[in-house]
Amino acid sequence: MKLTDNTILITGGASGIGLALAKQFSERGNRVIICGRSREALDRAQSAVPALITQVCDVTVLDNRDSLSGWLENNHPDLNMLINNAGVQHIRHFDDGDAVADLDQEIPINLAAPIHLIGELLPMLKRQPSAVIVNVTSGLAFTPKADVLAYCATKAASTLSRCRCATN
Ligand SMILES: NC(=O)c1ccc[n+]([C@@H]2O[C@H](COP(=O)([O-])OP(=O)(O)OC[C@H]3O[C@@H](n4cnc5c(N)ncnc54)[C@H](OP(=O)(O)O)[C@@H]3O)[C@@H](O)[C@H]2O)c1
Repeated sequence: MKLTDNTILITGGASGIGLALAKQFSERGNRVIICGRSREALDRAQSAVPALITQVCDVTVLDNRDSLSGWLENNHPDLNMLINNAGVQHIRHFDDGDAVADLDQEIPINLAAPIHLIGELLPMLKRQPSAVIVNVTSGLAFTPKADVLAYCATKAASTLSRCRCATN
Protein backbone atom coordinates (compact mmCIF):
# COMPACT_ATOMS: atom_id res chain seq x y z
CA MET A 1 0.00 0.00 0.00
CA LYS A 2 1.58 3.26 -1.07
CA LEU A 3 1.29 6.18 1.34
CA THR A 4 1.81 9.11 -1.05
CA ASP A 5 0.09 10.40 -4.17
CA ASN A 6 -3.24 8.76 -3.39
CA THR A 7 -6.68 10.31 -3.69
CA ILE A 8 -8.42 9.38 -0.48
CA LEU A 9 -11.99 9.66 0.81
CA ILE A 10 -12.25 9.59 4.61
CA THR A 11 -15.80 9.39 5.94
CA GLY A 12 -16.26 11.24 9.22
CA GLY A 13 -13.01 13.07 8.54
CA ALA A 14 -13.97 16.33 10.25
CA SER A 15 -13.05 15.22 13.78
CA GLY A 16 -11.30 12.66 15.93
CA ILE A 17 -9.47 9.75 14.30
CA GLY A 18 -10.74 10.70 10.84
CA LEU A 19 -9.29 14.20 11.07
CA ALA A 20 -6.01 12.86 12.46
CA LEU A 21 -5.77 10.47 9.49
CA ALA A 22 -6.71 13.28 7.09
CA LYS A 23 -3.97 15.52 8.48
CA GLN A 24 -1.32 12.80 8.32
CA PHE A 25 -2.23 11.70 4.80
CA SER A 26 -2.42 15.31 3.62
CA GLU A 27 1.05 16.06 5.02
CA ARG A 28 2.41 12.98 3.19
CA GLY A 29 1.45 14.22 -0.25
CA ASN A 30 -2.02 12.76 -0.77
CA ARG A 31 -5.23 14.45 -1.95
CA VAL A 32 -7.63 14.02 0.94
CA ILE A 33 -11.38 14.40 0.72
CA ILE A 34 -13.34 14.31 3.97
CA CYS A 35 -17.08 14.02 4.41
CA GLY A 36 -19.48 14.36 7.29
CA ARG A 37 -22.97 15.63 8.07
CA SER A 38 -22.01 19.05 9.43
CA ARG A 39 -20.82 21.79 7.09
CA GLU A 40 -19.55 23.74 10.13
CA ALA A 41 -17.42 20.81 11.33
CA LEU A 42 -16.00 20.31 7.84
CA ASP A 43 -15.13 24.03 7.62
CA ARG A 44 -13.40 23.85 11.02
CA ALA A 45 -11.35 20.87 9.81
CA GLN A 46 -10.41 22.73 6.64
CA SER A 47 -9.31 25.74 8.70
CA ALA A 48 -6.98 23.42 10.61
CA VAL A 49 -5.75 21.61 7.47
CA PRO A 50 -6.32 23.94 4.48
CA ALA A 51 -5.45 21.32 1.84
CA LEU A 52 -8.45 19.18 2.76
CA ILE A 53 -11.31 18.94 0.28
CA THR A 54 -14.71 18.74 1.97
CA GLN A 55 -18.13 17.41 1.04
CA VAL A 56 -21.26 17.26 3.14
CA CYS A 57 -22.59 13.69 3.12
CA ASP A 58 -24.60 11.65 5.57
CA VAL A 59 -23.31 8.21 4.66
CA THR A 60 -26.55 6.56 5.81
CA VAL A 61 -28.63 8.43 3.20
CA LEU A 62 -28.75 6.93 -0.30
CA ASP A 63 -29.28 10.31 -2.02
CA ASN A 64 -26.29 11.76 -0.17
CA ARG A 65 -24.08 8.82 -1.17
CA ASP A 66 -25.29 9.06 -4.78
CA SER A 67 -24.40 12.77 -4.85
CA LEU A 68 -21.01 12.04 -3.33
CA SER A 69 -20.13 9.28 -5.78
CA GLY A 70 -21.31 11.40 -8.75
CA TRP A 71 -19.25 14.33 -7.51
CA LEU A 72 -16.22 12.04 -7.07
CA GLU A 73 -16.63 10.65 -10.60
CA ASN A 74 -16.71 14.18 -12.02
CA ASN A 75 -14.06 15.81 -9.85
CA HIS A 76 -11.79 13.06 -8.52
CA PRO A 77 -12.04 10.10 -10.90
CA ASP A 78 -8.61 8.99 -9.65
CA LEU A 79 -10.03 8.09 -6.20
CA ASN A 80 -8.03 5.05 -5.09
CA MET A 81 -8.57 4.86 -1.33
CA LEU A 82 -11.75 4.66 0.73
CA ILE A 83 -11.43 4.92 4.49
CA ASN A 84 -14.71 4.00 6.17
CA ASN A 85 -14.15 5.84 9.44
CA ALA A 86 -17.49 7.47 10.34
CA GLY A 87 -18.86 5.70 13.39
CA VAL A 88 -20.83 6.20 16.58
CA GLN A 89 -21.10 4.33 19.87
CA HIS A 90 -24.11 4.25 22.19
CA ILE A 91 -24.15 2.80 25.69
CA ARG A 92 -27.22 0.61 26.31
CA HIS A 93 -28.61 -0.49 29.68
CA PHE A 94 -31.64 -2.71 29.29
CA ASP A 95 -33.00 -1.90 32.74
CA ASP A 96 -33.25 1.86 32.21
CA GLY A 97 -35.82 1.83 29.41
CA ASP A 98 -33.94 3.38 26.50
CA ALA A 99 -31.69 0.51 25.46
CA VAL A 100 -32.76 0.79 21.86
CA ALA A 101 -32.37 4.57 21.59
CA ASP A 102 -30.40 5.44 18.45
CA LEU A 103 -30.11 1.77 17.44
CA ASP A 104 -31.57 2.69 14.05
CA GLN A 105 -28.74 5.20 13.67
CA GLU A 106 -25.85 3.19 15.09
CA ILE A 107 -26.23 0.12 12.87
CA PRO A 108 -26.68 2.07 9.61
CA ILE A 109 -23.69 4.35 10.31
CA ASN A 110 -21.29 1.69 11.56
CA LEU A 111 -22.29 -1.30 9.46
CA ALA A 112 -24.60 -0.64 6.52
CA ALA A 113 -23.01 2.58 5.25
CA PRO A 114 -19.49 1.17 4.84
CA ILE A 115 -20.91 -1.82 2.93
CA HIS A 116 -22.99 0.48 0.69
CA LEU A 117 -20.01 2.76 0.05
CA ILE A 118 -17.76 -0.16 -0.84
CA GLY A 119 -20.32 -1.37 -3.37
CA GLU A 120 -20.96 2.08 -4.80
CA LEU A 121 -17.32 3.20 -5.08
CA LEU A 122 -15.84 -0.14 -6.14
CA PRO A 123 -16.23 0.53 -9.88
CA MET A 124 -14.15 3.71 -9.51
CA LEU A 125 -11.60 2.05 -7.23
CA LYS A 126 -11.18 -0.89 -9.61
CA ARG A 127 -10.23 1.44 -12.46
CA GLN A 128 -7.08 2.51 -10.58
CA PRO A 129 -3.70 0.76 -10.89
CA SER A 130 -3.91 0.06 -7.17
CA ALA A 131 -6.66 0.73 -4.66
CA VAL A 132 -7.31 0.20 -0.99
CA ILE A 133 -10.37 0.05 1.25
CA VAL A 134 -9.84 0.55 4.98
CA ASN A 135 -12.58 -0.07 7.54
CA VAL A 136 -11.84 1.60 10.88
CA THR A 137 -12.83 -1.00 13.42
CA SER A 138 -12.20 -1.38 17.16
CA GLY A 139 -10.61 -3.67 19.73
CA LEU A 140 -14.19 -4.10 20.96
CA ALA A 141 -14.79 -6.25 17.88
CA PHE A 142 -12.56 -8.84 19.57
CA THR A 143 -13.26 -8.17 23.27
CA PRO A 144 -16.90 -7.04 23.37
CA LYS A 145 -18.45 -5.10 26.27
CA ALA A 146 -22.02 -5.75 27.37
CA ASP A 147 -23.09 -2.09 27.59
CA VAL A 148 -22.06 -1.31 23.99
CA LEU A 149 -23.27 -4.55 22.46
CA ALA A 150 -24.58 -3.14 19.17
CA TYR A 151 -21.35 -1.19 18.64
CA CYS A 152 -19.24 -4.32 19.24
CA ALA A 153 -21.36 -6.31 16.78
CA THR A 154 -21.09 -3.67 14.05
CA LYS A 155 -17.33 -3.42 14.52
CA ALA A 156 -16.92 -7.20 14.45
CA ALA A 157 -18.86 -7.29 11.19
CA SER A 158 -16.79 -4.57 9.57
CA THR A 159 -13.62 -6.32 10.71
CA LEU A 160 -14.77 -9.42 8.85
CA SER A 161 -15.70 -7.55 5.67
CA ARG A 162 -12.09 -7.18 4.62
CA CYS A 163 -11.74 -6.15 1.03
CA ARG A 164 -8.84 -5.75 -1.30
CA CYS A 165 -9.32 -4.29 -4.75
CA ALA A 166 -7.70 -6.16 -7.55
CA THR A 167 -5.80 -4.10 -10.07
CA ASN A 168 -7.01 -4.06 -13.66
N1 LIG B 1 -12.35 7.02 19.82
C1 LIG B 1 -11.98 5.76 20.12
O1 LIG B 1 -11.49 5.44 21.22
C2 LIG B 1 -12.14 4.68 19.08
C3 LIG B 1 -11.60 3.42 19.32
C4 LIG B 1 -11.73 2.43 18.37
C5 LIG B 1 -12.39 2.69 17.18
N2 LIG B 1 -12.93 3.91 16.97
C6 LIG B 1 -13.63 4.14 15.68
O2 LIG B 1 -12.97 5.17 15.02
C7 LIG B 1 -13.89 5.87 14.19
C8 LIG B 1 -13.82 7.35 14.51
O3 LIG B 1 -14.14 7.52 15.89
P1 LIG B 1 -13.86 8.89 16.65
O4 LIG B 1 -13.69 8.54 18.08
O5 LIG B 1 -12.81 9.66 15.95
O6 LIG B 1 -15.30 9.57 16.52
P2 LIG B 1 -15.73 11.10 16.37
O7 LIG B 1 -14.69 12.04 16.81
O8 LIG B 1 -17.08 11.17 17.01
O9 LIG B 1 -15.89 11.25 14.80
C9 LIG B 1 -16.86 10.58 14.10
C10 LIG B 1 -17.04 11.33 12.80
O10 LIG B 1 -18.02 10.63 12.05
C11 LIG B 1 -18.88 11.58 11.48
N3 LIG B 1 -20.17 10.94 11.24
C12 LIG B 1 -20.99 10.39 12.16
N4 LIG B 1 -22.09 9.95 11.57
C13 LIG B 1 -21.95 10.19 10.25
C14 LIG B 1 -22.77 9.97 9.11
N5 LIG B 1 -23.98 9.39 9.22
N6 LIG B 1 -22.32 10.36 7.90
C15 LIG B 1 -21.11 10.95 7.77
N7 LIG B 1 -20.28 11.19 8.82
C16 LIG B 1 -20.72 10.82 10.04
C17 LIG B 1 -18.96 12.71 12.48
O11 LIG B 1 -19.26 13.95 11.85
P3 LIG B 1 -20.75 14.56 11.79
O12 LIG B 1 -21.38 14.29 13.13
O13 LIG B 1 -20.56 16.00 11.46
O14 LIG B 1 -21.42 13.81 10.68
C18 LIG B 1 -17.53 12.75 13.01
O15 LIG B 1 -16.72 13.63 12.24
C19 LIG B 1 -15.26 5.26 14.47
O16 LIG B 1 -15.56 4.30 13.46
C20 LIG B 1 -15.07 4.58 15.81
O17 LIG B 1 -15.95 3.50 15.98
C21 LIG B 1 -12.82 4.91 17.88
